[in-house]
Amino acid sequence: MRQLNIGICGLGTVGSGVLSVLQNNADIIREKSSCLIHVTHVATRNTNHGCNVENIQFSNDIFEVARDSDIDLVVELIGGTSSALELVMLAISNGKHVVTANKALIAEHGTSILQAAYEANVIVAFEASVAGGIPILKSIREGLVANKINWLAGIINGTTNFILSEMSSKGRSFESVLEEAQKRGYAEADPSFDIEGIDASQKLSILTSMSFGMTLPLDHLFTEGITKIPLKDVYFAKELGFTLKHIGICRDHGEQIEARVHPALIPDSSILSSVNGVSNAVMINGDAVDTTLYYGPGAGSTPTASSVIADIVEVAKSDKNAYSSLGFPVEKLCQRKMLDIDLVECGFYVRFTVVNETGVLSKITKIMADSALSIESIIQRDVEDDSNRVDIVLLSSKTTQSNLSPVLRKITELDSVSDEFVILRVEYLDN
Ligand SMILES: NC(=O)c1ccc[n+]([C@@H]2O[C@H](COP(=O)([O-])OP(=O)(O)OC[C@H]3O[C@@H](n4cnc5c(N)ncnc54)[C@H](OP(=O)(O)O)[C@@H]3O)[C@@H](O)[C@H]2O)c1
Repeated sequence: MRQLNIGICGLGTVGSGVLSVLQNNADIIREKSSCLIHVTHVATRNTNHGCNVENIQFSNDIFEVARDSDIDLVVELIGGTSSALELVMLAISNGKHVVTANKALIAEHGTSILQAAYEANVIVAFEASVAGGIPILKSIREGLVANKINWLAGIINGTTNFILSEMSSKGRSFESVLEEAQKRGYAEADPSFDIEGIDASQKLSILTSMSFGMTLPLDHLFTEGITKIPLKDVYFAKELGFTLKHIGICRDHGEQIEARVHPALIPDSSILSSVNGVSNAVMINGDAVDTTLYYGPGAGSTPTASSVIADIVEVAKSDKNAYSSLGFPVEKLCQRKMLDIDLVECGFYVRFTVVNETGVLSKITKIMADSALSIESIIQRDVEDDSNRVDIVLLSSKTTQSNLSPVLRKITELDSVSDEFVILRVEYLDN
């Protein structure tokens, strides 16, 4: 039976989950994998971690684990990109495999880490860095190996999905749901990483690199969060048959790669529209398989531990020869040109606020028609105050932001139209 001695660095949410699942499910893991996984060393700053570390060497210094000559594999679960990078590079240079859940580390330093791992003939695996408990990277790397990936779209941040789901189903404001998310532990005290889209952007970087064989970090990935979404637009979207979601999309255009993270209206007929709460889901379209869907918990102690342990077992079962966790051999990874967000084709939702007088709507629709932009749907509603204004919501057919922007400028130049308007992308996810 293969044996692997591992050291775990960080006993927070994920680290404590990894240790407890390895302890509680030791028999089933051994039976299924024919591997013996021994946790021989753990390191963390805080001695109040609440984990059972009986018979396990304990250090406050994480680097002790990377220097421990009895350790075959270091599990990095401290987070961040400075000490974590140092730890991972030290482990690699000492000939140890590495498993990490750290999306920031991989999105920023993935290629150099994998290059170092390749040269040292060790494996660096990071399944848990994207979509927590969903084995999405293994699915792309192995299950879809026969495919050229055409596109991928997903809900890859549980916090933003929880906030938008609550706003949509219960009519609650962004601020009140965010407060609840923080109380429930779904969002950090400083939630900007999630709500500004940075977390999703790092995960999409990894998915884009895996799908299209690109070096990390990516040159440019358009990122927009959910902080600027008024509740009324969640409702107008519903009325039009769409659900507002924060999504990440990447697509191969041959010469160029499209990759972006932002809020978007998804048709209610799409499976992604019914992914609610903190769940994650990713759709992948491959040229042989067509569209596939992966759904599950995107975070949490034991779901994330499930993915970390899958990586540990995979390393235990693999031959000593390093494989690239990005699917493509590290020397084949390359930079590819990113498509400018202004040239990405999609539908657009636009809400103008206008003075309530006859003829405004026809002036707006005429400007659209003169610019050869067709309108799929229109809603007109009184603004609920005493200002004698109405909201006009337009859903455009597919176009680009660079086509639409001059038209919107013309519309806001009309006397009765306010300068400020809401604009959101509409994704049909149909090809
Ligand atoms: N939480 C999730 O659901 C989830 C899901 C997927 C991926 N991840 C990723 O998993 C990683 C860990 O996340 P987490 O939620 O488990 O974080 P966490 O709860 O904050 O735990 C981090 C642990 O590492 C320790 N630590 C940090 N820096 C250290 C250092 N320099 N030396 C020694 N110990 C150090 C911390 O000790 P102190 O307590 O003393 O600070 C804490 O025990 C992150 O990269 C995160 O992005 C998390």
